[in-house]
Amino acid sequence: MDKNILVETANKMMMRPKGILAMDESSPTIAKRLASIKVDNNEDNRRRYRELIVTAPNLSDYISGAILFEETFDQKMNDGTLFRDYLASIGILPGIKVDKGAKDLSCHPNEKITEGLDGLRDRLAAYYENGAKFCKWRAVITIANDIPSDACIESNMNALARYASLCQENNLVPIVEPEVLINGTHSIDECDKVTRKSLSSLFSHLKMFNVYLPGTVLKPSMVISGQENDSRASYEEVASKTIACLRDFVPDDTAGIAFLSGGQTDLEAESHLNIMNQSSDLPWRVTFSYARAIQAAALAAWQGKDENLESSQSILIERAQRCSNSSVGKL
Ligand code: 13P
Repeated sequence: MDKNILVETANKMMMRPKGILAMDESSPTIAKRLASIKVDNNEDNRRRYRELIVTAPNLSDYISGAILFEETFDQKMNDGTLFRDYLASIGILPGIKVDKGAKDLSCHPNEKITEGLDGLRDRLAAYYENGAKFCKWRAVITIANDIPSDACIESNMNALARYASLCQENNLVPIVEPEVLINGTHSIDECDKVTRKSLSSLFSHLKMFNVYLPGTVLKPSMVISGQENDSRASYEEVASKTIACLRDFVPDDTAGIAFLSGGQTDLEAESHLNIMNQSSDLPWRVTFSYARAIQAAALAAWQGKDENLESSQSILIERAQRCSNSSVGKL
């Protein structure tokens, strides 16, 4: 592990006023996204869509790093350039999702465990060799009657810590993503309780595995009411409870925080981040690592048609710009 390399990469990822673009939809997720616009889910269409994203004019003004799915990391654009090389050439760090997805947790109905540790060391060495600068691993925590269980939280946070230490051994900055799902009728206070328990467990596992926090980026969900809750908390309450929770569990020397959007509307995702960044004394950089809150409107505008490419790109850039502004509290 070279701490200087890790810190240098993490600082670039957290550069103001930028954030990280998540464009690493797994095979099942990209299938859903393309089905929503009635476009065939084949390799060429996945390339066309992702090429639209990375070639949007001036993307690097707002985006410091892009998380790719393994297919895209090894894929060529229409002119034969590798996506990862193109991103590096426009000043966007290429990163890669390295988990193998959230699978059913044995003997724990409705709970998931993220897989992908077997063979990870060798895969990471190859990704670094091929130009990756950082990685992502997503753990999923569901709130419902009697869940999450301790088994779900502890096993997922342990896996995140093992993944993070393997990344750092290979000079790759780990993005650790413990996502508490927004799905459900739960209150913001229930979300707060589960998020606190998850972050507490995560940081004790990271410590146990000697993970170097100045070379680690946290990608949390916000403390927010469940999507099907009838009286959802205000933007101000989400922002203040989220920051209070992070202050209690995220050590000051962590490289930074980049939220997922997790099914929030575009307006919610940008407003929450903007309010958080209006407090002046945060100990860490707080920015975005959104997929849907940057891409959704552009995907809908594209419809798989080349003639919609430019209008779709300008929508994508407008979303990236608004998220960038909110990452410095200037929306
Ligand atoms: P969303 O912003 O759509 O939640 O996606 C972020 C992500 O990378 C989930 O793993």
